[in-house]
Amino acid sequence: MKTKIAGIGKYLPKRVVTNQELTTYMDTTNEWIIERTGIEERRYAEKHKETTTTMAAAAARIAIERAGITPEDIDFIIFATLSPDYYFPGCGVLLQRELGLTKTEIGALDIRNQCTGFVYGLSVADQFIKTGMYKNILLVGSEMHSMGLDFSDEGRAVTVIFGDGAGAVVLQPTTKENQGILNTVLHSDGTHAEELAMINPGSHGGYHLGTEKFGYPDPSIPGGVFVTQKMVDDNMLTPNMTGQLVFKNAVVKFPEVIKEGLAKAGLEKEAIDLLVPHQANLRISQFVQKVMGLPDEKVVNNIQKYGNTTAASIPIALCEAFEDGRINEGDLVCLAAFGSGFTWGSVLVRW
Ligand code: COA
Repeated sequence: MKTKIAGIGKYLPKRVVTNQELTTYMDTTNEWIIERTGIEERRYAEKHKETTTTMAAAAARIAIERAGITPEDIDFIIFATLSPDYYFPGCGVLLQRELGLTKTEIGALDIRNQCTGFVYGLSVADQFIKTGMYKNILLVGSEMHSMGLDFSDEGRAVTVIFGDGAGAVVLQPTTKENQGILNTVLHSDGTHAEELAMINPGSHGGYHLGTEKFGYPDPSIPGGVFVTQKMVDDNMLTPNMTGQLVFKNAVVKFPEVIKEGLAKAGLEKEAIDLLVPHQANLRISQFVQKVMGLPDEKVVNNIQKYGNTTAASIPIALCEAFEDGRINEGDLVCLAAFGSGFTWGSVLVRW
């Protein structure tokens, strides 16, 4: 028994935010953003109306319909995001409620592997399907970055990159010989955990990076302090990224993990019909394409329109490729991701 992608859907919020619009908030230019990242525009969710969960639900409804099932048939939910509606509980249960599935009391699992979240989620789902535990798993990646970005000059290197959106798949067992997930490869290395991170608010209490930096405090408080005034005053409640370190690691790990998956399956890179890399930066994807020696028509890039949507980027790109008729039955599709953690991984699936 293998796992097949039975249905796929995506949701992109309506509001288009161009590079030009960003220049009105911060010291940046359209040329800088395009040259360094390839991004021309991204989408932002509608504040106070849309959330990570509502976008996930919109993508999920399409995936469920395309799988030819009803929401009640879903027997497990896996939700990957780094921008959850709440610190806890995770979005899995919120999505269950949003889809009206509380009566079925199915399990809901939250995945926190950032840009690699969808790949990790697929690997987990694959194990559940292969053991026969579940028959209709709903896996979503959804992000609402626009609520957590720094629109001052200080945040420009991070803020210009990210966008909002959601993608979802329904996973089912298949016994067809030429169909389904061939393998998944997962890796991580926490050495550089803080180099692409949103550290505050958190329960670290200054442990990793020193209490003074974060304004901790007052030994008279019996517990810790989740958010300090210094964090607020010094603009520390937004993501930070050491861009060049991320770039250098990404261009090594992407090809490595793709080749590892191919070797495990006993296949050569020529066997890949479509590579769907996590949309981190167009320059990273172009570098990976070159190293892998793949022609343009075998690589999906849509970061130009949506920016980096983290856990949502692979399902959105995969869905768009599917809708554009770029995937045929039996095609070998390779998904690969790298991101915060660092974590990275790949999936090989026969469509
Ligand atoms: N607009 C204009 N200038 C900007 C800017 C922006 N949005 N962001 C940064 N700059 C400036 C910097 O301040 C710096 O100026 P200085 O030379 O006067 O100090 C200059 O541009 C170069 O900055 P640097 O950080 O060295 O640029 P870079 O070539 O490394 O590009 C990234 C920055 C973020 C685009 C690039 O490092 C990158 O894409 N890294 C990978 C990020 C990624 O993929 N993250 C997601 C992983 S899942």
